[in-house]
Amino acid sequence: MNVNGKTIVVTGAASGIGAETARMFMAGGAAVIAVDRNKPAAGTFARFVEADLSDPASIRDAARTVDKGIDGLCNIAGLPPTRGRVPVIRVNFLGLRDFTEAMLPNFNDGAAIVNLASLAGIGWPDAGAAIKALIALRDFDGVATLCDAHQVDDARSYFFSKEALIVWTMQNRWSWRERGIRMNAVSPGPVQTPILQDFLQTLGKRAEEDMRVMDRPGKPEDVAPVVAFLCSGDSAWIRGSNIPCDGGMSSHVMLNMSGLA
Ligand code: NAI
Repeated sequence: MNVNGKTIVVTGAASGIGAETARMFMAGGAAVIAVDRNKPAAGTFARFVEADLSDPASIRDAARTVDKGIDGLCNIAGLPPTRGRVPVIRVNFLGLRDFTEAMLPNFNDGAAIVNLASLAGIGWPDAGAAIKALIALRDFDGVATLCDAHQVDDARSYFFSKEALIVWTMQNRWSWRERGIRMNAVSPGPVQTPILQDFLQTLGKRAEEDMRVMDRPGKPEDVAPVVAFLCSGDSAWIRGSNIPCDGGMSSHVMLNMSGLA
């Protein structure tokens, strides 16, 4: 995996998976532009851009501040379900999409975009109508109405945001092919970061069951290399894919769903 000399934007770089991904890139010789609402504690970032990815004006400003010459964008910032459905869907899907689109003029040809989705998005094939409606939504103020229309409460909003992100990633398999720009997603299972407790709190018994069958939760160090690989030229033919990184959980869930476990 060679990222030496590349310039890579990492959102959510102040904590957890984003912080570890940024660290890996910098160790590999990349210049990292950190985008977060919180200032990263340490690290030799080329630049820190403070942004609130739930706010369209802040998103536009951030993309303008980042400027051109970007080889990779890792969309890692995200909120857990305990934050409520409007912020969750704004940050995890609408804001991520707006920031990515605003960044398009900044990308070098051949750039890679990696979206941090989740095992929580595995149910996307069963949520087609609601996902279609969210992908059609451009107005950040329309989230609550859309959620009411599709029975999305706070607990479901996290799953829904990641389902939409996986579908949107697949839809963009060839969107910028003439510029060689690729988009992929990574879907971790439960990872030991500050928001793990929020998931356990929201998911209750289901999370307890997941943690029982898993040998251990993931670590940011388990996920960051997969993100970095998808950002490097070594993954050039992977496009519009969602790569699980979950200690076997997605296989376990899918086999159980289809009665083939
Ligand atoms: P974290 O809470 O450690 O880091 C999230 C980062 O996003 C923080 O630095 C935070 O400041 C930033 N952020 C949140 N809202 C923002 C906003 N409005 N504007 C700008 N920055 C904002 O969480 P973690 O676990 O590292 O999560 C990273 C990504 O991985 C998220 O998208 C999450 O959904 C996903 N994920 C996490 C899993 C876990 O179990 N921890 C499992 C699967 C996916």
